[in-house]
Amino acid sequence: MMKYFSFIIVLLSLVAYNVRFGDAIPCQIALFLSGDFNDMGYNYMMNEGRVRTEKNLKLTHTMYYSNLEGEDEKTGEAIEEAIREGSNLMIISSQVHATIGIQYARKYLDANIFWLIRSKSRPTPDNLPNVAILNYNSAQLQYLLGYFAGLTTKTDKVGFVSPGYWVQKLLTVNSFYVGAKRANPNIKFYSVYTGSWFNPDVAARASLELISQGVDLLGMSQDDMTVQTTVIENNGTFGLGATGYPERLIYGEAIGMSYITNWTNVFTHYAETIINNTWIPYDVYNANIKDNTLQMDSFSYRVSQTVQDRFNAEYNLFKLDNTYRPFMCDPGYDVEYTLDSKGCVKTEAEFYGNSLLLPEIEDFGLYTVPLEFVPYPDSLKYGLSITAGICIFCTLASMGVVLYYNNAKVIRSASPTFCIAILIGCLFVFIGVILWAQNPTDNLCRSKIWMISLGYTIMLGNLLVKNWRIWLLFDNPKLKRRVLTNFKLFPWVGGIMLLDILILALWNGLGDITATKKPGVDGLGKYEYLDVCTFNQKGDIMLYILLIFHGIMLLVGCFVSFKIKVVDIDEFNESKPISTTLYSIAFCLFIVIPLMVSPQSNANQSIIICACAIFTTMSSILILFGSKFHKMIVEGPAINETFRSSSNTKNSETFSGNDHEMEKKEDKEETKTVATTAPKSITISSAIDDSNNQIKSDIEEDINI
Ligand SMILES: *[C@@H]1O[C@H](CO)[C@@H](O)[C@H](O)[C@H]1NC(C)=O
Ligand SMILES: *[C@@H]1O[C@H](CO)[C@@H](O)[C@H](O)[C@H]1NC(C)=O
Ligand SMILES: *[C@@H]1O[C@H](CO)[C@@H](O)[C@H](O)[C@H]1NC(C)=O
Repeated sequence: MMKYFSFIIVLLSLVAYNVRFGDAIPCQIALFLSGDFNDMGYNYMMNEGRVRTEKNLKLTHTMYYSNLEGEDEKTGEAIEEAIREGSNLMIISSQVHATIGIQYARKYLDANIFWLIRSKSRPTPDNLPNVAILNYNSAQLQYLLGYFAGLTTKTDKVGFVSPGYWVQKLLTVNSFYVGAKRANPNIKFYSVYTGSWFNPDVAARASLELISQGVDLLGMSQDDMTVQTTVIENNGTFGLGATGYPERLIYGEAIGMSYITNWTNVFTHYAETIINNTWIPYDVYNANIKDNTLQMDSFSYRVSQTVQDRFNAEYNLFKLDNTYRPFMCDPGYDVEYTLDSKGCVKTEAEFYGNSLLLPEIEDFGLYTVPLEFVPYPDSLKYGLSITAGICIFCTLASMGVVLYYNNAKVIRSASPTFCIAILIGCLFVFIGVILWAQNPTDNLCRSKIWMISLGYTIMLGNLLVKNWRIWLLFDNPKLKRRVLTNFKLFPWVGGIMLLDILILALWNGLGDITATKKPGVDGLGKYEYLDVCTFNQKGDIMLYILLIFHGIMLLVGCFVSFKIKVVDIDEFNESKPISTTLYSIAFCLFIVIPLMVSPQSNANQSIIICACAIFTTMSSILILFGSKFHKMIVEGPAINETFRSSSNTKNSETFSGNDHEMEKKEDKEETKTVATTAPKSITISSAIDDSNNQIKSDIEEDINI
């Protein structure tokens, strides 16, 4: 019973197997294309072969994958998917996928999957009976097109546009040339490389270069028709169809002749061998003219009958004899090749591996589109430079005032040395802005960052240290007498500057800072460029460190300002204007950094940075010095009218000659004490009072040193 049962199960599953795989899908094609099947060229023709085979053999489930250009991973995934879907005839149409195709053929060696792979030769080691190699000889097609060009040229000048010997060996150029020369021994021949199979811009300009030499027909090995449309648009004699598609169907009678690659019969043949179970192991298929896979299209009506006759005579030689190889026979070959007794290259392998132009071909080499320099807009350059110039003038004027009135009370109390230092910092920033607005050079790229960074460091460093001194003097619970003279403070400023210089020097040394030509940015054309400052990764890191350094300096500045906001001595405490300055710079950064991080054009970036630098620096000058100058104008400079040296401070003594102000101050302090009821506050208040006096004396000392 059990025996019967299992027998029936086996039988049933066999039947099921047959229903699913037996006759229903004997051959299922998957076609892999390197480009778009709409390219009206190689990929289109491959796809046409698939479609017609499907129709001829009434196949189902044929599939294609397009645009697998060079991306091996994508191609591999496509192959795996096709196999999962049940495809068993894998047509790898492009030579660029030959290696990966063979790799997968090896992987699925036992899976009853058949492969038709476009490649120059069978793989080694060759243990892949299910792989058939598809190859075709484009040399004979190029030779025939060259022959046609030689017959029809009116200027006796013909050229060829190819990717270059490092992309594709030069047999196409040489064959085309030999054909043209056979038809017209007086031919003058030019060659130019585009560097790739598909780059319409370069191809068009390279073609124009040859056309300007008087060329009226161009051969090509390019994926698109740009070369030919350029010839047609520039009154060339004929365009030539050299993509495998009958280009006359698109471009009309301006195309004198096309070659056609028709894969229908090849694909149908291989699909049939799978269906008939007559697959030929280790097969190699060399498509050729004789078997009609390679054909020449019919002539344009504009081609004269004599030309047609002469051309057909040559064409027929190929149709009759599969081994006819006129393109391998030229006296020029004797330089580099082994020739046989008839003066032709002896072996095809040698011919196909060739990367030398025949000597009579004029070589234009690789065509590179000249890049056109686009400077920064003048409005930006002049706008920023003039603004910065005005600011520099203001800064210098302020310096003059500070120096001239260095004995005036307000200036003295703010310490002229610090004032000048701050103004020098501002000058640096403005000069940095002017540098920034220019078209970058290597040196400008470096110096603008140096100037702006140093400028801010001098400015912020001095402000920071000034406020810090006040903080130190006040945050002084034991009311210890501290003498912090300018000379004691300058080393701190110097230290901050040294740190800045160190970071800048590292950036300079490691960053590999250069002004680089950058095409296609900022809405420029593809062949227009801006000079842009570039750094390597280390340079980027150092620049971030520099930004962090400045950020910390600002934060510390804001923190100190916040700490001393209780300090309230009008005369020499600049903490308010300094704090305002620091806050405004910090605020500006908050606006600028998000703007910078969001994608900006280079010009916009420069404008934002420069505008921000000008705004913060100029507003700092106004806040710090404007009030002082205003006071000087309103109250007179009060030259030498300052606190006379006296270390045991008593209010009346200190502020001799300025009594009313002192009264005002005392009023204020009293109000404060009254307002704050907690005893602690009173202590603080009196401490402040004490330390105020302390500071006064200290600063007096500083100034008088
Ligand atoms: C082509 O020929 C036409 C008519 O002869 C002429 O108007 C045109 O300027 C020519 N174009 C070029 C690019 O030479
Ligand atoms: C390719 O060959 C098939 C069959 O021989 C034919 O029907 C088809 O028209 C040809 N295609 C072209 C573009 O010539
Ligand atoms: C496959 O079989 C069909 C019909 O039997 C025959 O016409 C065709 O020529 C065969 N094709 C191949 C490639 O064997």
